[in-house]
Amino acid sequence: MPSTVIALVASRQSLRDCLLVVKHAMVKTRQKIDVEDASGDRFFAELKKTTNGMLPANIYREMYQQSLAHSHNDIIDIGVGQGPSSIAFALGIVHSQRTNIVHVIDQFEQVKDGPHRYCTKDFPEGCRLANTEVFLNHVNDYGVDGTIQTYPCRTDEVDLDPDLQADILAIDADGLIDRDLGYFFDNLVPGGYIIIDDYADMINKRGRAKLKGFSHVSVEEARAEWLGMSIFARRRILGKHFLVYVLANWIELSGAMKKKKILGTTVFYEKTTSKKFRDIVGSDQSFVDNILMSRFLSELWILVQGRSKKRQPPYLKLLFR
Ligand SMILES: C[S@@+](CC[C@H](N)C(=O)[O-])C[C@H]1O[C@@H](n2cnc3c(N)ncnc32)[C@H](O)[C@@H]1O
Repeated sequence: MPSTVIALVASRQSLRDCLLVVKHAMVKTRQKIDVEDASGDRFFAELKKTTNGMLPANIYREMYQQSLAHSHNDIIDIGVGQGPSSIAFALGIVHSQRTNIVHVIDQFEQVKDGPHRYCTKDFPEGCRLANTEVFLNHVNDYGVDGTIQTYPCRTDEVDLDPDLQADILAIDADGLIDRDLGYFFDNLVPGGYIIIDDYADMINKRGRAKLKGFSHVSVEEARAEWLGMSIFARRRILGKHFLVYVLANWIELSGAMKKKKILGTTVFYEKTTSKKFRDIVGSDQSFVDNILMSRFLSELWILVQGRSKKRQPPYLKLLFR
């Protein structure tokens, strides 16, 4: 474990309340990376590699280019792992010779897998601190410390200045994009870009595993499991991608944002309103929940039909009433 982290853990400092906004004052003797030529594919492939990036390298390149094109205001980057997106955005700001800031929000924790180096499963006490330090070292390696402000906490723990104006908001956290847009949409200027990852009309590996589990138990057991799940777990039952897809389309329908392009599973929207998020999107989520539920039931039906002639669609439909 790096020495700075040991010192912080030993002195029992806590970042949990998020009052501590980490300033990048660390002086390290790590080798600096040449960031002059940030235009080529090789640079972004290297950025992905050195920071354990989870997105394809061309997405980081696109983020850099969007930052070059937009950075008249600050940028809000949510769910950053070890930092590739934040570094790409910051380089765009630096290379366009502006003085804006990338506000980085991440809990810097994961239970057993994810983009971070340390997991709470193995390292419950100092996990957040250690992962924050990994992130800060990467930011330092790319020489963009002065352009990034880090909030090592969950999105619902951050208190951003309501007057802060951003023209890019990037979200790649846990799939609850309506929650995060609720917090940060109003900081975005009209015409600003919203970049959302994991947008796809598909059921990912975790969603498939959940479905399989449900398809192997009795209706009573399935009902008990369903009732025991948190609202968050129910919404993610078919995986993060499908939840993001349904939520983003629902928010788009409200007129808050317009789709500009999709690259892989990353979607780029433009903010098309000057109204407040809560005034335009509303809080009635029954539409979203109905879509999630009916897709879940139809996928479950596809899995169980053929296995037992006794199981019929109306029977399944009654399952979670
Ligand atoms: C899929 S990873 C992000 C990968 C990263 N964008 C990349 O390009 O490598 C999701 C990230 O969101 C963070 N995260 C998940 N839920 C969060 C929450 N509620 N608040 C803040 N960060 C969260 C995790 O710590 C993790 O770094």
